[in-house]
Amino acid sequence: MISLTSAVLASAVTFFSCEKCPDRIKISEDGCKAFVNTYRMDAAEKPAMKLRAEHLLERAKPIKHANPMTPLMGWSSWNTFAEHISEEIIVGVAKSMSTNGLKDAGYVYVNIDDGFFNGHGPDGRLRFNPVRFPNGMKGTVDGIHALGMKAGTYSDAGENTCASFGGDKSGVGAGLYGHDAEDCRLHFNELGFDFFKVDYCGGLQKHLEEKKRYFEIAAAIKATGRKDVRLNICRWAFPGTWAADIAGSWRTTRDIRAGWTSIRDIIAENLYLSAYVSPGHFNDLDMLEVGQYKGALKSAFGNSGDIGLTRDEEITHFGMWCIMSSPLVLGCDVRNIPPTTHALVTNPYLIRMNQDPLSQQAYVAFRDGRAYQLVKDAEKRFGTARYVALYNANDSEYTFEVKSRNFDLDGEIAVFDLVKRADIGVFTNATKVTVQPHAARFFLFDAERRLDRRIYEAETAYLTDYSELDESSYGLTDSCQVQCRAYYTEVNGASGGVAVVNLGGRDSNDLIWKNVYFSTDGRRKLVFECASDKVRTMYLSIDGAAPVKLKVADTAGKFVSIRHEVDLSAGVHEIRLFNPWSKIPVIDRMIIN
Ligand code: GLA
Repeated sequence: MISLTSAVLASAVTFFSCEKCPDRIKISEDGCKAFVNTYRMDAAEKPAMKLRAEHLLERAKPIKHANPMTPLMGWSSWNTFAEHISEEIIVGVAKSMSTNGLKDAGYVYVNIDDGFFNGHGPDGRLRFNPVRFPNGMKGTVDGIHALGMKAGTYSDAGENTCASFGGDKSGVGAGLYGHDAEDCRLHFNELGFDFFKVDYCGGLQKHLEEKKRYFEIAAAIKATGRKDVRLNICRWAFPGTWAADIAGSWRTTRDIRAGWTSIRDIIAENLYLSAYVSPGHFNDLDMLEVGQYKGALKSAFGNSGDIGLTRDEEITHFGMWCIMSSPLVLGCDVRNIPPTTHALVTNPYLIRMNQDPLSQQAYVAFRDGRAYQLVKDAEKRFGTARYVALYNANDSEYTFEVKSRNFDLDGEIAVFDLVKRADIGVFTNATKVTVQPHAARFFLFDAERRLDRRIYEAETAYLTDYSELDESSYGLTDSCQVQCRAYYTEVNGASGGVAVVNLGGRDSNDLIWKNVYFSTDGRRKLVFECASDKVRTMYLSIDGAAPVKLKVADTAGKFVSIRHEVDLSAGVHEIRLFNPWSKIPVIDRMIIN
């Protein structure tokens, strides 16, 4: 077996783009030969190791469309049309999607965003916009359903919808507030909508309490008897772990724009939210802006400033939404979708990564500044196949050193490039991949062996009280709710640059690694790397067992190791750090030896 790694890493010669190698992997001439040889050898002699991704597709069951357990796929009117919508546009879009391959690829939800209503009438009934929808909404919803697609609707938790703050008066008084029951009956029983995005501009205006309000709305949906309506909480920040009790997805950031800085910042805000994703419950990175190329943008929001995406940025945008298991809601005018965008968004490998049955969001396995290596399991938990992203958010080219151990993989790694739809070779231990500015590569790695994970960063852990809301705006009774909440933040000296601060002080302000997996029974040395500004106590509980007290000295802010040994059986364990009475140290990570 010729190792690509040794050939590539050992040669200090000029790099060039190897014609037969994947685009933009720059390697030496010898490396290129080795790469091609390796590839050929594997193709000829090791069919089981190779083409794992193709096998996955061939053997795998077809993706079930509109599966409530996987991220929603569809289109929304907002990014291109804003409130300038009509039955003709919406049904026209649905028709195009049903014939141009988008529906077949899984994009079955056609979501109508802000602007289709005209306040509530004196009888309390929601009125439809007489200019945009002179025939009401029934024909539009039926038109979508007749195509075998699903229809999505929109409202606000308060009295007024977001567009009404921008001057579209049709949204004044159109919100759900005071109308939950009759509006839900109208949307879901009379009209037959299947998805509900509930915005919060009106909610904010009235200083409503998010959790209470969204639970009321969820109860009104439930009261319609419809069990299949998918709710999206649109509060533009991670609302709290309660969201998963009622919603299929929740917006985590402010509105997307079709520009690089917007895409980059949304990804950055979601990198450390992987712990909150589970089957049927996803972080919503907002509607896609793919298809909006620089200089050729079609949007109701103008065409100036940092606007329009390059091809690399578009691939990064779509691929990162896929590997982070965001809903995939197209926002361009899909009646005229650019062919390159169409090919990207219907790429079966990328879609499978997004719709993976495990419903995991990839986590950051390794970071160097603004260069991130992300990973998530493919199809089987703790198996040998893993999806990997190499994401370069820098404004200059970056060469990733890809080490199989960072992904808990070992032996020969067969690499399939999801965007190129091709096997690109095999490496052992490590290899280098150069990625252009703002670009990302997406792979399926299939390894000979899976290793038990050794490093559990705090930024991949679940914080029970985690929320990005500032509830002080509605005078929450428990003032500690806001000030005492733990959060993920950049900390000097922390591995990966990020740690969790502000833990403890009450029972639920805790940190939990929920999926600590061992393939064998054994004695484990758990090492907690943490920093403290004074002597502190934290409690460790494993699988809910009686807690063990761990004392941490005053480390003057430096990270130190706190050790604990324990026998743990093969299987999945839950490791929790907490202190109901006082603060615990800053937690960087847990290492398992
Ligand atoms: C908010 C939402 C957007 C869109 C608009 C409509 O800004 O975040 O996604 O729905 O409202 O007005």
